[in-house]
Amino acid sequence: MNAMDSHLEVAVEAAREAGAILVAELARPVSINYKGDVDIVTQADGRSEQAIMSRLRNHFPRHAIVAEESGAHAAAASGTRFCWYVDPLDGTTNFAHGFPWFCVSIALAEGPAGNEELLAGVIYQPLTDELFTAARGEGAYLNNKRIHVSGVAKLATSLLGTGFPAHKRAQNPNIHFYWNFTLRSHGVRRAGSAALDLAAVACGRFDGFWEFGLHPWDTAAGVLLVREAGGAVTNFAGEPYRLGMRECLASNSRIHEEMRAVAEQVSHTPPSAPFLEPLR
Ligand code: IPD
Ligand code: CA
Ligand code: CA
Repeated sequence: MNAMDSHLEVAVEAAREAGAILVAELARPVSINYKGDVDIVTQADGRSEQAIMSRLRNHFPRHAIVAEESGAHAAAASGTRFCWYVDPLDGTTNFAHGFPWFCVSIALAEGPAGNEELLAGVIYQPLTDELFTAARGEGAYLNNKRIHVSGVAKLATSLLGTGFPAHKRAQNPNIHFYWNFTLRSHGVRRAGSAALDLAAVACGRFDGFWEFGLHPWDTAAGVLLVREAGGAVTNFAGEPYRLGMRECLASNSRIHEEMRAVAEQVSHTPPSAPFLEPLR
């Protein structure tokens, strides 16, 4: 077993353990706290994150961890090149409403922050028992079967995904992009989990995806999956996506330039309707 296999193996164990916690929590009354206006967190987020953290800490005490609910955790020894990105429950709003579309996302990266290389990624959807895995240079898999992006060649015949942030949502420009992409494709799905959206691009269910303002824990595993499945992930200028970039544009590669051109055009078009003030 090489080092990467063992990293991925531990991430898979952690994701499965966390997934079982989410399923158990789904059966209990949900307790919601607010991080922002509509940015919610449940007891399930915390329990899932603790389980993942303790497994990663046990196996890799010299690695740093950035986890959504508890923030950045330095490594036991200084000078580490490795960092884990953990989203213990991607799709919290769905989870809190009993909408069965959420997952666990865990990824390992190496190198300086902002310019790191993705090494391994796992996305686990416990209700369907779908396990997406990828290791750098070794392809992407769904339940141990190799996956590839779709062969759809035109935006006009594509199915796309996107998402809207809970944080500062009144200032987010995405509704204009949603409008434009909806009219130029077979449709745009807004299912509520960026990690599952990226996994859907990797296995050919979606042909493309875009979103603004995602965090490294939302995207790290999914970006590696899309790339290892033959897709492309960039910003709207076409530069390779790096963790923390404002724009994330992922596709099967074939419709990438068309999507990018639309996104760039919409970015430079003044909005035809003013943003609404948030309701009080
Ligand atoms: C959210 C989901 C959603 C996306 C939001 C994310 P969370 O993550 O991925 O699809 O649109 O931008 O914040 O809060 O459920 O982990
Ligand atoms: Ca998330
Ligand atoms: Ca989350």
